[in-house]
Amino acid sequence: MKYKSIVATQRGGPEVLQIVENELRAPGNGEARIRIQAVPVVQDDVAARVGNRPFLPKTPFLPGYAILGMVDAVGEGVTEVAVGDRVAALTNFGGYAEYIYWKAKQLVHVPEKLDPAEAVVLILNYLVPLQVMHTVVRVKPGDRVLIIGASGGVGTAFLQLGKLAGLKMYGLASPSKHKVLADYGAIPIDYHTQNFVQVLRQAEPAGLDYVFNGMGEEYFEHGLAVLRRGGELVHYGGPQSLARFLLLVVKFVLYNLLPNGKKIKGYGTHTGNIAQFEGEWKRLFQLLDEGKIRPIITDKLPILEARKANELLESGQVIGNIVLLTPELLKK
Ligand SMILES: NC(=O)c1ccc[n+]([C@@H]2O[C@H](COP(=O)([O-])OP(=O)(O)OC[C@H]3O[C@@H](n4cnc5c(N)ncnc54)[C@H](OP(=O)(O)O)[C@@H]3O)[C@@H](O)[C@H]2O)c1
Repeated sequence: MKYKSIVATQRGGPEVLQIVENELRAPGNGEARIRIQAVPVVQDDVAARVGNRPFLPKTPFLPGYAILGMVDAVGEGVTEVAVGDRVAALTNFGGYAEYIYWKAKQLVHVPEKLDPAEAVVLILNYLVPLQVMHTVVRVKPGDRVLIIGASGGVGTAFLQLGKLAGLKMYGLASPSKHKVLADYGAIPIDYHTQNFVQVLRQAEPAGLDYVFNGMGEEYFEHGLAVLRRGGELVHYGGPQSLARFLLLVVKFVLYNLLPNGKKIKGYGTHTGNIAQFEGEWKRLFQLLDEGKIRPIITDKLPILEARKANELLESGQVIGNIVLLTPELLKK
């Protein structure tokens, strides 16, 4: 039997994404074969395809940072999951496909009652803000924060989780997206036309407690400028090249040496395995089940239309998330 996947044949625009056919095989030792039902389309998929990262997979490669699906077959020695289980994984690559083979130990069970499109968004875009706000730093109700990149997939998750945590939030976003920030109680700032440092110094003369930066290191100086003494900037934006990565490291060291009582911290999911994330995913599944969070999904498309989904994300018009789904889920 054959199945389809969407391969980035070379570096470039969405047109390099091509559908290919593969032979379905039995899973190997310790592996589960999963029929994929939902995949989020995220900025890091685009970055890997375009070549905007210091460390890149060789082409051809399969993008797809996270998956949710049904276990379809298991290999020898698998005890963690069984055929028919609904599972998810943080894959980094390989999600743009009808099937994936994954180490059973690296899968998390997903409650059946959750909507698959919403649940799969939690695996990356909600994991980041949950860990940043509650592990990297420890926010408390009333803390004043700035979210840089507040309207995107990760940014809107920051807004929802920040509201739950009782934060006073400011967010940078394009004006057409300000309503979504206001919907979650955040004060939007148009970074295209407003000087956010001036705006925040006027609004919060004592300074902010935290800045969450999903963009580049070019925001370090101004981000630090709006913090109070003792405040922290957490950077989670992916570096665009090796040179930018090295610049980032140098800036990290230098800014942290300044005797101003302010700190920069870094965050990335790439180094982790499931043991680092499972607790957070379960907490997020529970918050979704209780209706306390609800991912914003602007578009749902068939998995095989990953190219169109990438075009949409790259247009810069998307608020929140885009999710790829199997045809039967799209009909619901
Ligand atoms: N460390 C990790 O493990 C990890 C995990 C996930 C994501 N990330 C990183 O998080 C970042 C955001 O990802 P995402 O999936 O949320 O992306 P996204 O959905 O594409 O959203 C990013 C948003 O940033 C805004 N933006 C673009 N240029 C900007 C600028 N110069 N200044 C301020 N805002 C700008 C855009 O909205 P406006 O039109 O409103 O400006 C855009 O919608 C990326 O750098 C990604 O690599 C890191």
